[in-house]
Amino acid sequence: MHDDLINAAMEARDKAYCRYSGFSVGAAIFDDRGRVHVGCNVENAAYNLGNCAEAAAIAAMVQDGGKRIARIAVVGGHADVVSCTPCGGCRQRINEFGDEKTVVIAIDDSNEWREYSIAELLPASFHLDIT
Ligand code: THU
Repeated sequence: MHDDLINAAMEARDKAYCRYSGFSVGAAIFDDRGRVHVGCNVENAAYNLGNCAEAAAIAAMVQDGGKRIARIAVVGGHADVVSCTPCGGCRQRINEFGDEKTVVIAIDDSNEWREYSIAELLPASFHLDIT
C-alpha cells in the first residue's frame, strides 16, 4: 500500500551521512499535491549540529512549495532496517505540517510497516495560534 513511499525513503537512506552513529535514516513525504520529497540524516563532528532525515525532507517539501504532509515514511537502522519512529523533535516538526489525516509510516524489524497518526505520536501537542 505504501510501497512507493517506503522505497523512496529506503533510497534516501542510502545517501545518509552518519559516520558518527552509523545509524542511517531516510524519510519520504507525500505532500498535499501528491509530490514526493525525501531527506536523509546528515551528522557533524560537532554532534549537536546533526540533522534528522525528517527535517531534511520537510525542508525539501517547503522549498518546493508543499504545504501539508499527507504521508511520511521513515526508515532507519545500523545495517538492516529496524523500527524507527520519529524522534521527539521530528514529531513536533511533522506536527507543524500535519493534521488529523496525516499518516506516519514506520517500518519494523520484520520489514512490516505500521501506521500512526501524529496525534498518537505527539498527544497534547504545542501549537502557536497566530492571527
Ligand atoms: N535520526 C533521524 O534522522 N530521525 C529520527 O527520527 C531519529 C534519529 C538520526 C539522527 C542521528 O543522525 C541518527 O539517527 C542516530 O540518532
